[in-house]
Order: sequence, then C-alpha cells, then structure tokens
Amino acid sequence: MMDYPTQSHSATEGIPPFTFSEQGLAECRTIMGRYPQDHGKSALIPMLHVAQTENDGWLSVPAMDAVAKLLGIQYIEVYEVATFYSMFNLNPVGKHVLEVCHTVPCMLRGADDVIAHIGKRLGIKPGETTKDGLFTLKAAECLGSCGTAPMLQCGAKYHEHLTIEKVDELIERLRGQEKRNNYTDRTEA
Ligand code: FES
Repeated sequence: MMDYPTQSHSATEGIPPFTFSEQGLAECRTIMGRYPQDHGKSALIPMLHVAQTENDGWLSVPAMDAVAKLLGIQYIEVYEVATFYSMFNLNPVGKHVLEVCHTVPCMLRGADDVIAHIGKRLGIKPGETTKDGLFTLKAAECLGSCGTAPMLQCGAKYHEHLTIEKVDELIERLRGQEKRNNYTDRTEA
C-alpha cells in the first residue's frame, strides 16, 4: 500500500525546516548539470535521494519544497513523484530501513517467513519502527533481484539468498553500526 505523508503543505508545524548542506547542494548541482536545462526535471529523483539522506532518511514537506525550489518546479510536481515511489519515506523512519521484497518469487522462497521473523525479533510489523529508532520494517514490491530470492534491501545494499541465520547476523551487525544506511551510499553498508 502506498505510504502517504501525515503532513500537509499547510500544516508543517513541528516539522523541522530543511536546508541542504553545502555538500548536498553541490551534489544536487552536479546532478542538475547532467541534464539539458529544458529537461531539468529529470534530476528530480536523484535529488530527492540527496534530500532524503540529508533529512534523516525521510522526505518532509520542507525537504521536498527545497528540491522544488532548487529545480524551479511546482511543489506538487515533487509531491507526486515522492508519493509514487516506495523508496521515498514520507514519515520518519529508523536508522536502518529493512525493505523485504514480498512479491511472488521472493514469497515462494520464504519472504513471508523472513518478514515474520524480523517482525517477531524486533517487535514491529511492516510499516513500523522500533521504539529505539534503530529499525523500520517495510514489505517491498519486487526489487529486481528475483534470482537471489528471498532478499531485502537496506540502504544501497542488497542482502540476498536470505536465511533466518543471515537475517539475525544482519540485524546484530546493524545494531552496532553508527551510520545510517542510505540509498546514496556508495560503499558497503
Ligand atoms: S520478487 Fe523479490 S526481487 Fe523480484
């Protein structure tokens, strides 16, 4: 089911303002430079990833608005893209977002057991975040790695051929990891 923001453009009370860091701004300008000026909107998705990384893993309305302003497009043009793709989180998430694919090939290879195991171990259901803010569990649609089912994505990294043991190892490793996993990570998470 699509994740909709619980915020609205006219009611952002309590939601921190968002400003790109210098590095984030530089990344956005590099991304924008890849496209002809009259096709600047093509930079939207990678720029949303930068904004999400710089906003603790989720896209608040101020973060989406900052992207719209930078690109010189309507706010709604950003919202309609951000609300379409499940890789964008429209509400706060845990430091490590575990997106378990549960489409048919992964389901046939035990994705439901993986989801149930993670849920039981962390005490959360898909769509929820642990009280300590460390983990969010999501059930995702096909992540394009059906040949290595069952699998999950955490930030930029795919964890494939999952077994219950592998999932337990991953959770323990992530518990001890300071850094948030982001889609924009270029290195092993
Ligand atoms: S069905 Fe799970 S990656 Fe395609």
